[in-house]
Amino acid sequence: MSECVLLEQRDQVSVLTINRPAALNALDMNTLAALDDAFDQAEGDNDTRVIILTGAGEKAFVAGGDIADLNSRSGLAHYLELGERLHRVFRRVELSDKPVISAVNGFALGGGTELVLCTDIRIAARSASFGLPEINLGLFPGAGGSQRLLRQLSPCKAKELMFTGARISADEAERLGLINRVVADGSLMDEARALAKSIAQKSPLVLKLLKRTLADGREMPLASALRHEQAMIALVLDSSDAHEGCAAFLEKRKGHFRGL
Ligand code: CAA
Repeated sequence: MSECVLLEQRDQVSVLTINRPAALNALDMNTLAALDDAFDQAEGDNDTRVIILTGAGEKAFVAGGDIADLNSRSGLAHYLELGERLHRVFRRVELSDKPVISAVNGFALGGGTELVLCTDIRIAARSASFGLPEINLGLFPGAGGSQRLLRQLSPCKAKELMFTGARISADEAERLGLINRVVADGSLMDEARALAKSIAQKSPLVLKLLKRTLADGREMPLASALRHEQAMIALVLDSSDAHEGCAAFLEKRKGHFRGL
């Protein structure tokens, strides 16, 4: 696998580290391809139950799309291909059947914040910062960010961030509901791993079907979403993991879930 993204797999958790610290982990075409490959491996690995995304070095999670790379090209064909790749990789992060935690260790700007918006649970180091500075470059957040931010924050806050390009602290991101919580810089990966390990104890089947139910339901009118939920919970109730979980409760022991 390319060195642009490192993959470490242990204790049922795959950690994907975007690894271009000299460019603050900016996403160029190679890094996007490497992220795609690393996701293939993490998703295809039966032992992996949770995926953590983070950035290499002390300074950045991802400082955005690679501006030098963006500016060195021209032609609609190239930009269409770039957009397709960004959207495809970000969408697969968002729709992964395995829970994805972002451990945000520094600047998460532009494409960095847009990538965070695709993750299920977001933990940030206190020194991390977020923002959509694309407007300062004569762009707008087009890696899914304009649409996801609008749906995830209040529209007026989302628009303020996009129109001003302002950078916000991790504490402010937590206040806005953009991330789950802020932790001390030195404990970021321990906190992310502890959370991942606790989720890894749950049924992977339930997590997969729950994630699908949430993602699909969000696109539907409420009545259809409730019907869909009803069908999915029937599937879950019929699973070995549900029988194991309920039996474990009644027998006063810990359940062991196999994803069946
Ligand atoms: N693309 C390419 N290179 C980048 C980069 C980026 N997004 N962000 C930082 N770098 C590079 C810098 O050019 C610099 O390289 P050199 O050492 O070769 O000069 C190196 O990383 C270190 O950066 P700085 O010296 O600028 O570090 P700093 O601590 O002074 O500032 C920063 C850090 C505030 C994050 C600043 O680097 C910055 O503003 N970066 C750009 C952030 C940005 O605008 N992101 C949006 C990009 S567009 C986008 O994201 C759209 C999309 O998805 C397609």
